[in-house]
Amino acid sequence: MPEQIQEIAVPPGVGEVMVEEHELQRRVAELGSELSRDYEGRELFMMGVLKGAVFFLADLMRHVHVPCELDFMAVSSYGSLTDSSGVVRILKDLDSSIEGRDVLIVEDIVDSGLTLNYLQRNLRGRNPRSLEVCALLVKPGRRKIDLPIRYVGFEIPNRYVVGYGLDLDQRYRNLPYVAAIDEHLQGRAA
Ligand code: IMP
Ligand code: MG
Repeated sequence: MPEQIQEIAVPPGVGEVMVEEHELQRRVAELGSELSRDYEGRELFMMGVLKGAVFFLADLMRHVHVPCELDFMAVSSYGSLTDSSGVVRILKDLDSSIEGRDVLIVEDIVDSGLTLNYLQRNLRGRNPRSLEVCALLVKPGRRKIDLPIRYVGFEIPNRYVVGYGLDLDQRYRNLPYVAAIDEHLQGRAA
């Protein structure tokens, strides 16, 4: 079949592309290799935070070459459409125990760090053997809590972004790249 190069139209409201599809794929493969090296001889319990991390996690896991298990948590963070408050409610918990397991929290994006801070404290209380974090995107300028994030895909500037799992009011998750939302739309959403 001839190779087709498809131009994907940027939908209205979506602005500048921050991370291109090929950059995402390359970095995700790199992170997978890094994880495979670091967890060699062990088994990895990969925990995705619904819904945003699904796309990243599905791609990442296919580049991990140690035995691994997949599970999800869903949390809701109170706050406005574009800002979390740190008050987190668990909507769906893990299906299995993580006691004695090597757990990796897989997040789409760490913004203030409040959601992740809650998750880390909660999961640490369940006595995993190890607990690390892999975040596709981090916005260092927005951090309210200093958190160790062992694996980072990309550091991005302080813009509200969508695509590759990330949403604005549940839209745009299906974009294969990460793009910033137009300022005027972001203002309206917040
Ligand atoms: P935090 O608690 O402020 O670190 O926010 C974490 C959660 O807010 C992420 O897991 C996302 O679900 C969401 N979030 C933060 N920034 C963005 C963004 O720029 N685009 C889409 N979702 C975001
Ligand atoms: Mg999230």
